[in-house]
Amino acid sequence: MPSERKYLVTGGTGFLGSALVKAMVDRGDDVRVLDNNFRGSASKLGEAYLDKIEMVEADIRDAGAVDEATKGVDMVCHLAFINGTKHFYEIPEVVLDVGIRGTQNTLEAAIKHGVKEYVFASSSEVYQTPPSVPTDEQVPTCIPDTLNPRYSYGGAKLIGEILAFNYGRKHFDRTLVFRPHNAYGPDMGFEHVIPQLALRMRRAAAEAGGGKIPFQIQGDGSETRAFNNVHDFIAGLLLVIDKGEDRNLYHIGTNEEVSIRDLVLKIADQLGVEIEIQSTPRPAGGTPRRCPDISKLQGLGYEPKISLDDGLREIVSWYADWADRHPEKALELSAI
Ligand SMILES: NC(=O)c1ccc[n+]([C@@H]2O[C@H](COP(=O)([O-])OP(=O)(O)OC[C@H]3O[C@@H](n4cnc5c(N)ncnc54)[C@H](O)[C@@H]3O)[C@@H](O)[C@H]2O)c1
Repeated sequence: MPSERKYLVTGGTGFLGSALVKAMVDRGDDVRVLDNNFRGSASKLGEAYLDKIEMVEADIRDAGAVDEATKGVDMVCHLAFINGTKHFYEIPEVVLDVGIRGTQNTLEAAIKHGVKEYVFASSSEVYQTPPSVPTDEQVPTCIPDTLNPRYSYGGAKLIGEILAFNYGRKHFDRTLVFRPHNAYGPDMGFEHVIPQLALRMRRAAAEAGGGKIPFQIQGDGSETRAFNNVHDFIAGLLLVIDKGEDRNLYHIGTNEEVSIRDLVLKIADQLGVEIEIQSTPRPAGGTPRRCPDISKLQGLGYEPKISLDDGLREIVSWYADWADRHPEKALELSAI
């Protein structure tokens, strides 16, 4: 595949961004990263990769910094966004500001500097409660309630897609949008379902001191998700970057669907904890079923390879090790 191309990856010290940057460097691409480390960290890249990239520490809302960082690149991959469900509820205005202003800044800079290829990271959250599952890229997007702060994120993603396709129409050779569906892996952050479940369960088990422990979950556990291992995700994203067709959007995910009840039991199994699941009401804005149709990406050669069981083994042990090394922080985070 193409090498010696120069990429700007915004959000490149985040969970997915850092994995993308590493994969790009490994195959010989030239990479510049822009991130303000709001949620990312240079440590996700590590010294070996930091030595091989250009790192720009700046806020995506700073138009001057984005302009400067965009000079001389062949493609902008725009991933910088405020992710993490907790933030959607607590700082929706910042989610919107970073999402919309950041996307506009990257588009304007790309146009100004004659960059011809632009990739925008959207989300499965643009469907909210999809009317059909598995959900393909043609299913209508939806913001059910503008009063619910939860939709600050999905709303900003939708506006971002519209901005990208319409700014790109005249100015870019390829405008590509990808919608990740529940990517997961070690060091993904804490405001996500698998890390939260694992940390909370470890804490409950430690407090109970043995035996079967009651374990509360949001909803009745029948909700489903399809968790996409980060290694598979990156393989899919590189296909979009290399082979995606102009003005197209692509799901990146897996069709291995699992109920939250089964997910919780699998995590308990990996932690060696016996639990009794207790249901609580599903929060407003929660989605009962989510699983992407990935045929379009499969058409580019994508095939997810890592099973949920294998992927869970890796992530659960990563968070368990992390909690052993940071007991106080783990205690605090397990209360999220
Ligand atoms: N992880 C998933 O399953 C998933 C699902 C759907 C969409 N996405 C999207 O994919 C992209 C990457 O997600 P991720 O899981 O790596 O999340 P992440 O939070 O780890 O990465 C986002 C990055 O953006 C950076 N950022 C936030 N605000 C910024 C600002 N003002 N200026 C500069 N940088 C800023 C953060 O520091 C972080 O490094 C995001 O756009 C996210 O919305 C991810």
